[in-house]
Amino acid sequence: MSNQTFTAYVVDEVEKGVFERNIKERTMDDLPEGNVVVRVHYSSLNYKDALSATGNKGVTRNFPHSPGVDASGVIEESSDDRFSPGQEVIVHGYDLGCNTSGGFSEYIRVPADWVVPMPEGLSLRESMIFGTAGYTAAYSVQRLEEFGVTPEKGEVLVTGATGGVGSVAVAILAKAGYNVVASTGKTDQAQFLLDLGAKEVISRDDATDDSGRPLLKGRWSGVVDTVGGEILATAIKSTNPRGIVTCCGNVASADLPINVFPFILRGVSLVGIDSQDSPMEQRQKIWQRMASDWKIDTLEDLTTEITLQELDTNIELILKGGQKGRVLVNLS
Ligand SMILES: NC(=O)c1ccc[n+]([C@@H]2O[C@H](COP(=O)([O-])OP(=O)(O)OC[C@H]3O[C@@H](n4cnc5c(N)ncnc54)[C@H](OP(=O)(O)O)[C@@H]3O)[C@@H](O)[C@H]2O)c1
Repeated sequence: MSNQTFTAYVVDEVEKGVFERNIKERTMDDLPEGNVVVRVHYSSLNYKDALSATGNKGVTRNFPHSPGVDASGVIEESSDDRFSPGQEVIVHGYDLGCNTSGGFSEYIRVPADWVVPMPEGLSLRESMIFGTAGYTAAYSVQRLEEFGVTPEKGEVLVTGATGGVGSVAVAILAKAGYNVVASTGKTDQAQFLLDLGAKEVISRDDATDDSGRPLLKGRWSGVVDTVGGEILATAIKSTNPRGIVTCCGNVASADLPINVFPFILRGVSLVGIDSQDSPMEQRQKIWQRMASDWKIDTLEDLTTEITLQELDTNIELILKGGQKGRVLVNLS
């Protein structure tokens, strides 16, 4: 199929530091080496894709490039015994969409070690409504569970709650029986969060303490933080003794202005979440849960479906912190 052409969203560096984004025809020869070829049916938009699409060299070094850290589709060719043509699969993370041509393209070619067989109970479309953001949310909830944060222990805070990771975290936690408090900068979207299962919505300002005090009144048994900075610091200082705070993002700030007191006086633990390179065994376990007990009933309610042609406006929106829920990219 080397002469076959297909459509992809391509970012070019037209001169140093100047990037252009276009829909282009590509050939299979444009794709990198790999032993599995997937016809992509769905991808999704994550914050990292917006960074790649706007030339962030920390994410993507070389252009032309097709972003897209997520893809679900059907195997077209495989030279690896574990996979065969016609099989439905998910590929996310590792180097997909970073320095390997990604899911904003009708075809990807990847190493077989990156490929997750579609778990029973999840469709190609549903898997990409979750996507990397949903996987990261589920991974965060799994960590809370592993460290003993059960629903009866008390309230769990989710920050950046209307975003991709945040909205899925609210919905999974609610489905699992937790009392979820959602913090958002979009207070006009409170009903959206209540519909996903949040018990209470607080404003970003209410979730930010700038008094400089080293400890605040304890409220949270667990926290899923997606934003970093002052909000994460405030959440840690407001966590009950031996509570768990997960940290996955830095849209507010990569800094963490805090001292050691919550850790040494309350035994609070800060748990890092890195979905990109999470091991395959863990990946498959988490996808199984997203296909079963964590398969949220509100998947469609948090989805905006777009085509490759509509990516540009959605990339601008996510960079401004304006994304609500998940943006599903349909390439089928
Ligand atoms: N570590 C990992 O494995 C991993 C995986 C996936 C994503 N991430 C990271 O997680 C973060 C969230 O990703 P996402 O895909 O959910 O992005 P997203 O859809 O853009 O959601 C981020 C949300 O954060 C809030 N926010 C935006 N700007 C903010 C600011 N300046 N201060 C405070 N809150 C702000 C907004 O929610 P509200 O308006 O509701 O507050 C926004 O919707 C990103 O930093 C991303 O890179 C990490």
